[in-house]
Amino acid sequence: MRRVFLIDTDTASDDAVALIMALKSPAVDVAAITVVAGNVGVDQACRNALYTAELCGSSVAVFRGAEAPLARPLEDASWFHGRDGMGDHGYPAPSRRVEPLGAADAMVETAEKFPGLTVVTLGPLTNIALALKRKPDLPRLIGRCVVMGGAPCCEGNVTPAAEFNIWCDPEAARIVFRSGLRMEMVGWQLCRGAAALDLQDIERIKAMGTPLGNFAIECNSTAQAAYLEQTGEHGICLPDPVAMAMALDPTIGTGWSEHYVDIETSGDLTRGMTVVDRLNVAGNARNRRVWNELLRGSPNVKVWWSLDVGKWKAALSVALAEH
Ligand code: BDR
Ligand code: CA
Repeated sequence: MRRVFLIDTDTASDDAVALIMALKSPAVDVAAITVVAGNVGVDQACRNALYTAELCGSSVAVFRGAEAPLARPLEDASWFHGRDGMGDHGYPAPSRRVEPLGAADAMVETAEKFPGLTVVTLGPLTNIALALKRKPDLPRLIGRCVVMGGAPCCEGNVTPAAEFNIWCDPEAARIVFRSGLRMEMVGWQLCRGAAALDLQDIERIKAMGTPLGNFAIECNSTAQAAYLEQTGEHGICLPDPVAMAMALDPTIGTGWSEHYVDIETSGDLTRGMTVVDRLNVAGNARNRRVWNELLRGSPNVKVWWSLDVGKWKAALSVALAEH
């Protein structure tokens, strides 16, 4: 039986590749795509999601969500993905429009219609936080929530301590992490290094000569240059597709452990930090006051620490292979 996915995304170049993986997978039905401000403004992100769905021949419903984080102005990542989020190649406007319903309501409706569904988040957690405000018992309806976000080793891509999706709206992230959702965290550290597409991988995908393969590489051109400048590593880092690959096939992940994880919302140096209680000290007397809220339940996050790089890249190739 096909599994049901809902994907929440601030659609830019790596989100687009993740959407392709899900929309082309024979194993899942994507019931809805909800869009949030993050990498780019929400309207541009909606256009990018609709355009990508069209390239996949999909008529999946796309819902417009939050225009800004809960308590702050949006600080986007156009410095990484390009002004349009897609490397500024002038892709045409999509022919379809977003649905009239808002993203938070769509999340609640979709979860009620498909209890046990998998939610995959590829952007800031604003939409989910808003959905939780509408329906606090939403976690009961969600079987799995795979989050691309966080930097559990404290190696951030937007500040030394934080990864973009969590940093962008830390107040929303805190609400979601404390909500009782069964979360799986695919942090940024897992997606770089060997997991990034190297120059050979890129040539291999181009050589397939497929429209989706060419699009996946082309729309990430600005991201490729920005990644080199940021890390000194040549290639294309694809955090959202890595998370999607692990949502589609959990056997791509090879190592994980469960922990209490909370989000720093106020630190000057540490805004958006995913604080992982890796050595189980949160419950000690000296920490209990600060960790009180989470300690009421069992560890809230399955943190992925390693993956099978060959298997993830093979899954990507399969998704991009169709002529
Ligand atoms: C995350 O932030 C965005 O730039 C990407 O789309 C990904 O979701 C990586 O930190
Ligand atoms: Ca994203």
